[in-house]
Amino acid sequence: MTTPPAPDGRGLSRRGLFSLAGAGVVGAGLGVGITAAVTQSTASTIRATDSFTFYGKHQAGIVTPAQDRLHFAAFDVSDITRAELAELLSDWTYAANRMTAGLGAGPYGPTSGPYEAPPDDTGEALDLPPSGLTITFGFGPTLFDSRFGLASKRPDALIDLPHFPGDALQPALVGGDLCIQACSDDPQIAVHAIRNLSRIAFGRASLRWSQLGFGRTSSTTRAQATPRNLFGFKDGTANMRAEDTAEVNKQIWVNAGDGADWMTGGSYLVSRKIRMTIETWDRTSLHEQETVIGRTKGEGAPLSGGSEFTEPDFSTLGREDKPLIDEKAHVRLAHPTSNKGAEILRRGYNFVDGNDDLGRLNAGLFFICFQRDPRTQFVPLQLNLAKNDAMNEYTRHVGSGIFAVPPGASSGRPIGAGLFD
Ligand code: HEM
Repeated sequence: MTTPPAPDGRGLSRRGLFSLAGAGVVGAGLGVGITAAVTQSTASTIRATDSFTFYGKHQAGIVTPAQDRLHFAAFDVSDITRAELAELLSDWTYAANRMTAGLGAGPYGPTSGPYEAPPDDTGEALDLPPSGLTITFGFGPTLFDSRFGLASKRPDALIDLPHFPGDALQPALVGGDLCIQACSDDPQIAVHAIRNLSRIAFGRASLRWSQLGFGRTSSTTRAQATPRNLFGFKDGTANMRAEDTAEVNKQIWVNAGDGADWMTGGSYLVSRKIRMTIETWDRTSLHEQETVIGRTKGEGAPLSGGSEFTEPDFSTLGREDKPLIDEKAHVRLAHPTSNKGAEILRRGYNFVDGNDDLGRLNAGLFFICFQRDPRTQFVPLQLNLAKNDAMNEYTRHVGSGIFAVPPGASSGRPIGAGLFD
């Protein structure tokens, strides 16, 4: 983090520089080409020195290997103009491009620059490798209201999510004009990214809600072992993988002709903060736990038999002619055969936010999924689960978000450039 290259060939806007460091640094460090060599990860498991390039056809942080840590943030945009919004996205692109390459957020880094101004990077990532940092940006439905002249750009697929049976959403944990998903194997790196992007946004956008996550609850590539959620079950076994390119193209990326052209190559992110009543779960028999999920707790095999990756057989009957995989089991109801073939890419994380007043862990799953169209994927799937899933007895949805995740940026085309064409 000692050299101040600007990966973009341009720098932060004047306002972005003020946000970072005050007037002292304006005019310095602009227009310098990137010089740092970075290790591009092609492996499916992440090493500390691995990095994922920020520029690309698609944004990283979707089908790239799921890292172990998350810092997710939703923002409200302040009373600014359309041009200032475009400038914010350009500044975020500039800083994200640097941080994913293991550099500081601004041109000087945390320990140099004008001595009388705050450093242009906060410093906690100094000397730390990027640990596979990805930064993924999204736009919420409210960004397309009358404030920025973007109403005609709102994709039809970017719906306001309906109320689902059992929802116990807390308004403070819902929505947002913009979102940033920062994932890394090192929590300090993920937090550093959100902290610096929030800092750059000062006066232009402010945090609405945010979430830390640990322990990925999915695999997104074949080389990754299946992790476990806080119910103690393997999670991600049947998830779509980056290697399933035909499925990924069909179910995850927005295709040309799908609707809003500027979204081609993008995807839609739905987040749900799901509180788990783990104290109740922990007093439940192993039999009941396995019946609820529809898989064994140890191996993660379907209750219809076989091993972890055996396809579940929902028709096999057991004692008293009851199906081996219960009618209300989570895997039966979430399976594509119960949802007209609809699939999603899951990329969620466990969370523990301290404890509540009753001495129970405030714990659960911060569910994140990506898809081509939430109207035919997340919504009917969640409706089916909300109505019928035996797991509902142990879970409560308290937060929610939906965001259009635009295609990747390129040199001279910041994130979301298509909104302003
Ligand atoms: C706290 C909440 C949840 C927990 C603990 C949980 C846990 C699990 C577990 C253990 C599995 C089986 C292993 C696997 O294939 O990954 C699974 C599968 C699945 N879950 Fe969830 N899940 C939760 C919420 C959701 C939600 C909200 C959705 C979507 C709306 C969802 C969609 C799926 C899908 C699509 C599968 C794969 C089904 C298949 O094709 O076999 N889950 N989940």
